[in-house]
Amino acid sequence: MSEEATNEVIIKLEGLSKRFGYGDAASYALKNFNLEVKRGEFIMIMGPSGCGKTTLLNIIGLLDTPTSGSYLLNNEPASRISPRLQARLRAKKIGFIFQNFNLIPNLPIIENVALPLVYSGYHKTRRLIRASETLDRFSLKEKEYYYPYQLSGGQQQRAAIARALVNKPEIILADEPTGNLDSRSSSLVMEELKQIHNEGNTIIMVTHNPALTSYATRVINMLDGAIDTDIKTVKDSDLPVPVEKKTPKKFFKKRKNNSKKKKGKK
Ligand SMILES: Nc1ncnc2c1ncn2[C@@H]1O[C@H](COP(=O)(O)OP(=O)(O)OP(=O)(O)O)[C@@H](O)[C@H]1O
Ligand SMILES: [Mg+2]
Repeated sequence: MSEEATNEVIIKLEGLSKRFGYGDAASYALKNFNLEVKRGEFIMIMGPSGCGKTTLLNIIGLLDTPTSGSYLLNNEPASRISPRLQARLRAKKIGFIFQNFNLIPNLPIIENVALPLVYSGYHKTRRLIRASETLDRFSLKEKEYYYPYQLSGGQQQRAAIARALVNKPEIILADEPTGNLDSRSSSLVMEELKQIHNEGNTIIMVTHNPALTSYATRVINMLDGAIDTDIKTVKDSDLPVPVEKKTPKKFFKKRKNNSKKKKGKK
């Protein structure tokens, strides 16, 4: 069989280093780090505390910059993406699940979850409906008008995950998303991630739980800021392919019809 039918590389890190501090106090969170990620991969990253996992996700998610080396996002050097476009990419294409949940305390959770949709162009009612549906998938619908402080830690975490996934981002960066969850909530979250992955989206997830690696297509173990082992459990040619986005097509058809009508009238 030919090998050409594989998804494209969307993330490429080459000789990447991240140093914190200077002089005698300098230490490297990432050292000469190399990684290529193809669309549709579900990567789990494991490794001891302090080995650089969060630093890596922050750099991939454009929240931090490397000290040296190169990072290509969709073949574009990340350093050359304007701050404005970076903000848009973070809002529309990248979903973050942070180690601490970062919910906004003075907004009810439905509005927290609706936040990433502000850039979607949808009207507020539509955004709240979508947020409510997403919360329902995480068994939080009955709490949607609670404030974060009125939720348990695990519920807050599920709300934060709902927020990261509400606009179906193409790249999901998840830092121990199931860390504080009981097994039922944990499988809820993993099944949701699995579904999003099956639709052709890319997931990079940090976990300390080896049992979850069954969801992954690739498992990377890090040690002292570098890759220790890197094992693909699914062939590149078997990675899911993105489902076609419906909106632009419909939009196109509608416009075509309209222009025909107009022509006919003339
Ligand atoms: N802002 C910072 N200033 C200085 N050092 C930092 C900073 N952020 C991270 N580090 C250091 O970089 C190293 C890697 O940190 P990082 O948070 O990436 O680890 P991690 O693998 O995510 O660990 P954990 O599993 O505990 O979350 C650590 O030694 C940490 O002390
Ligand atoms: Mg971390």
